[in-house]
Formats: sequence, structure tokens, C-alpha cells
Amino acid sequence: MPDQIRVLIVDDIPETRDHLAKLLGFEADIEVVGSAASGAEALEFATRLLPDVVLMDINMPDMDGIAATELLSARVPAAAVVMMSVQGESDYLRRSMLAGAREFLVKPFSSDELTASIRQVYAREREKLDRLVVATAAALPDDERPAGRIVAVFSPKGGVGRTTIAVNLAVAAAQELGRTVVLVDASFQFGDVGILLNLNPKSKSIADLAPELEGAGEPESLDTFVVTHSSGIQVLLAPPSPEMAELIHPAGLKKILETLRRTHDLVVVDCSAWFNDVTLGVLDLADVILTLLTLEITSIKNMRLFLEVAEQLGYEKEKVQLVLNRADSTLGIRVADVEHSIGRTIDHTVVSDGRNVVYALNRGVPFFLSNREAQVSQDVLRLAEAIAGPRREALPERAGETHRAAARKSLFAWRS
Ligand SMILES: Nc1ncnc2c1ncn2[C@@H]1O[C@H](COP(=O)(O)OP(=O)(O)O)[C@@H](O)[C@H]1O
Ligand SMILES: [Mg+2]
Repeated sequence: MPDQIRVLIVDDIPETRDHLAKLLGFEADIEVVGSAASGAEALEFATRLLPDVVLMDINMPDMDGIAATELLSARVPAAAVVMMSVQGESDYLRRSMLAGAREFLVKPFSSDELTASIRQVYAREREKLDRLVVATAAALPDDERPAGRIVAVFSPKGGVGRTTIAVNLAVAAAQELGRTVVLVDASFQFGDVGILLNLNPKSKSIADLAPELEGAGEPESLDTFVVTHSSGIQVLLAPPSPEMAELIHPAGLKKILETLRRTHDLVVVDCSAWFNDVTLGVLDLADVILTLLTLEITSIKNMRLFLEVAEQLGYEKEKVQLVLNRADSTLGIRVADVEHSIGRTIDHTVVSDGRNVVYALNRGVPFFLSNREAQVSQDVLRLAEAIAGPRREALPERAGETHRAAARKSLFAWRS
């Protein structure tokens, strides 16, 4: 369920793990996503499960809690560690703090103390993330910052991976390239972005913006309508039900995108495959149209038709970039055949990886977050670099600094 605090328990003693899991099982806002029996297992689980909070035992054989926390802070910076120890010695405290732990609980602790620590650490992390996103977005005054790029992710046929690529591209640009990114779900009737990111379906959506768009000018800020995802990207969700799609007109969407490009480096738009006036409005406004196709005959046929339309609309060649998704799936059609058929070369390719992609989809965690080493993630990163340019002094680095500062503060708070 969205809005639950995802907790990973790490302790070498099975009884302790069970006990903690039982205690937390009573809390409606907390979900235990896993239990690890060692530091190594903690790292493995945390990379895969992306918990919000890690309850870490300090004394464990082979890798102790402090060493595990140190590695965790580097590899999964969004996971906040709460250290558990039988001693409250200042040396332990200091070392935990330096390793990046956010809180320190001395065993035995009551269930109230435990849940209060988890909630506190979580709330603090969320707040920090929000501030970070706002601070980076506001690093330059609006009139001095160059307008962000609008990237439409489109295909003239459904089911070819638009949402999958749009979501992971956005996350890659934010996390690896240090860009401020907002992802707009412009598939108004059947938007899937919220599902891929496991966002609360009750969150604000673009439909709530309709009244703001009535006036002549552009809205001042869309801060209250976008949702911040734990990866650091911001998201403007599609309406919660299909009939609400009509609330947003092409002119309104144009205002939204113009406003967002003033505050973000990259505005990624997941378009519908429907060639209606809303989609056309986005394509017109976009700086780049990532046009997806797969090695299927219908996809190729539709692409040919779309390229003709694009030419009639006067889109420049560089604006329309072709992305071959699931490029290595062997369906009897070769890339060279496709290029010949559509009379253009493919600009980018993304491999097929059913295992990672579908697993990520079902868990609501983008594969770029859970498996950055996978080829499919690397392909998306290359695509992001081609669109957004090379790595910049990035968000994660700054996140690392604040994270240490915050850790220091919170541990001192515990002491006083
Ligand atoms: N590179 C890929 N490898 C494996 N499966 C993929 C890949 N890209 C997309 N898919 C799968 O294809 C299906 C359609 O993807 P989706 O992003 O929903 O397409 P669209 O938004 O174009 O309708 C999903 O089940 C998704 O998991
Ligand atoms: Mg989709």
C-alpha cells in the first residue's frame, strides 16, 4: 500500500527479527518489507527492496551494523538507518553517526519508542527530500534559469513501453545526471505512471489543476499539485478516473508544461498513443519527441504513418528521435529491415528484459532504482544522457552531505 513506511529489519538473532516484525505488524502505517540476518544480506535486500527505514542491529558476526550502515548510506542513500544496540556507549553512538545512522535505540526499548523513532526518522527524511527538490529547482531565479526541456515519450501504438521508458528515464536523469525532473502523465484516460511508481491513487492529480487553468495567464506554481517520489523526481499524475480526462484541454496542458519548464531542467511527458488534440499539443510544444517502436510489424507500420504526419506538421528531423524498445527480442525482424522500411535510422535502443521490467512493474519500484547495473538500466541511462546531456554536480552528492548533517543533528537530539 502507498504511504506506508517500508521497514527492513536486520538482526542476526531470528527471535529478535520475529519479535520486531510482530511489534511492527500492529502498526497500520508501517510495513515490514523484509528481514535480513546479516550485514551482507541487509545490503542485498536494501538494494532490491528500497526500504524507507532500516532497523539495524549493531552487533552481528562478519559484517557488523556499523560497516553495513556505511555501505548502505553510499548505495541506498534514501534508506534511513535506525541503529539498535544493547549499549548506549558514546563510542558506538559516535561511530554509528559517522557511518550515517539517523537514530540510535538502546535495547531493550518499548514498542512505542520503536515506532516513534521509525516515524520520526521517516518524516525527517521526507521533509529533507522535499526541501532538496525545491532547493535544487530554485537554485536559479526563474528568469535566469534556461527553460527546461520538454521531452514527449510517444508512440503511435500502445503497449510498446512508453510509460516504462518515461518513468525510468526520469529517474535516471534525476539520480545519475543531477537534473530536476518532473514527470507528467498525459495519458489522461488510462495513466499508469502512478502504478509504476506506487504512488497513492488519492494524491493530487492534473484534474485538480483544472480550475487554476481558467484564467488568462499561467499558474504561478504547481508545487501543491505535484507529488514527490522517493527517487527525487516530481510527478503530476493523470486524473484518477477516465471520465475526468475531459477536464484538461490542450491549452490548459500547454500552460502546465510551460510553467513546469520554468522550474525543472527536464519535463518528461508520458503521452497516450491516441493521436488526439491533447497529444498533438504536447508533441508541438516538445523539444524532443522520443518515438518508441518495437520489432513488430504493426508497430513499424504505424511508425511509418507517424513519420509522414510529423513531416507534414513540419517537425524537424532532430526533434523526432526513434527509440527501438526491446531491441533484441527475436521476432524474425531485423533492425536493418526496420530502418529500411521506415526510411530512417534508429537513434536509440533499449534491450528487452522481461525479468527486471515486469518484476519492477509489479512491485511499483522503477527498475532503474532496483537494478542499476542491468543492461536495460544502462540503455535508459544512455538515452537520458543523449537527451539531458552529461552528468552534472548531482543531487545524490548533495543529498549525501545533508544526510550526514541531519544524522549528526538527530543523534545529538537523542543525547540531550
Ligand atoms: N525493455 C523492455 N523489456 C521487457 N518488457 C518491457 C520493456 N519495455 C516495456 N516492457 C513491458 O511491456 C509492457 C507495456 O509497457 P508500457 O510501458 O506499459 O507500454 P505503453 O506505455 O507504451 O503502453 C509492460 O508489461 C512492460 O513491462
Ligand atoms: Mg502507458
